[in-house]
Amino acid sequence: MTTTLDMQNQKTNTKKHKKTTEYQSPIVSALAEELAAGFENPEKISGRCQFDFVTESEESHCLSVCFDDVNLVMTSDPLMDKDAYIRMPLHVAEKIVTNVEGVDYRDPDIIGHMEMSGNLHLVNHLAKALVKPSKMTQHTFHDATNTYREAYASKAIVYLDSPTELEILETIEQKIPFIIRNPPTNTPHHAWSLDKLKESYGDVLLRVRSTTVKETVAEFVDKMSLVQNQKAADVIEGHTKVYTEGCSLPWQMREDFLPHYFTTHDFSAPQIWLGCVPVDAPASSLHRDPLDGFLYQLIGRKKVILFSPDQASLLYPMKAYNNYQPCWVKPETPNFKDFPLFKKAKSLEVVLHPGEILIQPAGWFHAVYCLDSPTFSVSYFLQHPVGVTPFD
Ligand SMILES: [Fe+2]
Repeated sequence: MTTTLDMQNQKTNTKKHKKTTEYQSPIVSALAEELAAGFENPEKISGRCQFDFVTESEESHCLSVCFDDVNLVMTSDPLMDKDAYIRMPLHVAEKIVTNVEGVDYRDPDIIGHMEMSGNLHLVNHLAKALVKPSKMTQHTFHDATNTYREAYASKAIVYLDSPTELEILETIEQKIPFIIRNPPTNTPHHAWSLDKLKESYGDVLLRVRSTTVKETVAEFVDKMSLVQNQKAADVIEGHTKVYTEGCSLPWQMREDFLPHYFTTHDFSAPQIWLGCVPVDAPASSLHRDPLDGFLYQLIGRKKVILFSPDQASLLYPMKAYNNYQPCWVKPETPNFKDFPLFKKAKSLEVVLHPGEILIQPAGWFHAVYCLDSPTFSVSYFLQHPVGVTPFD
């Protein structure tokens, strides 16, 4: 990887990035502005990435991005020497830049159209800068960080055995995470295995990243058997794990995998987390969500490391985020040199067993690890945070 920039006379401080290039396409221009606004580099990495945005008539618009620990430079000139290359249709770039508050890179309509090569960590680094939180999400996190400090002092996970909906809502209102045991379901969790999944839902299509490859549950399960020994070092988040990464739970599977609490109108679209993840790599890296989340575990155990919202300043949350807010610090391999305040953070660690549901109130930071492989979970969010009147 290149460690210094060589963009004659175009060096610009990352904190005061100025527009130095006129782009042919207003979409590329808007993309460059968003990237400059959201860019951070606390790990002081460097790289040279070239994006080519291609129109329907095969006209190509270039955006070259070079950065190091001080500078962020963008031009419309192709790079002779680059660490990563990304090619995508211009209409996908437009979809990203016109929806920075909601875009999800896991969406097959986004990532399924991208061709990427080279250092994908650098691609992730730049993609993370290209999002922006909505006012509602900012308010939710601000409130979570600055209120309910008394409640967050709780340091033991609470267990509820087959609670009622009212008991669930009352516990969420206390703003502490808790675990439900023995939730009412159509099919008991212990009935599920990979063979049973293939038998019951083998023909059902999963939408995992690609728009062209139609992958069934059976095909995905078969693929899982090929990667049992994947190492954490081989994992590039969002790219190389054999893991459904929270793609939509197919509607055919809802009956069996949603516990009988509330109605489907009360929840966001359920997500499926099926696959194999090395035990020392995060299945989901440290982040917080703006809604009250339910994580229902079905196969294998998961470890969840939780941090209360009032510790936000110790966890280095990213400036740019939208549907959830990732953190720069990695609890599994903490870099205290760049993130010294993390030493003061106090975590609550829980092990989620099959048949249990972890409820995390909005704003709690969490990182998820798979203690067993394979793993299978389903998650969903209550549409509105408990205790908050929407649009209030
Ligand atoms: Fe989450």
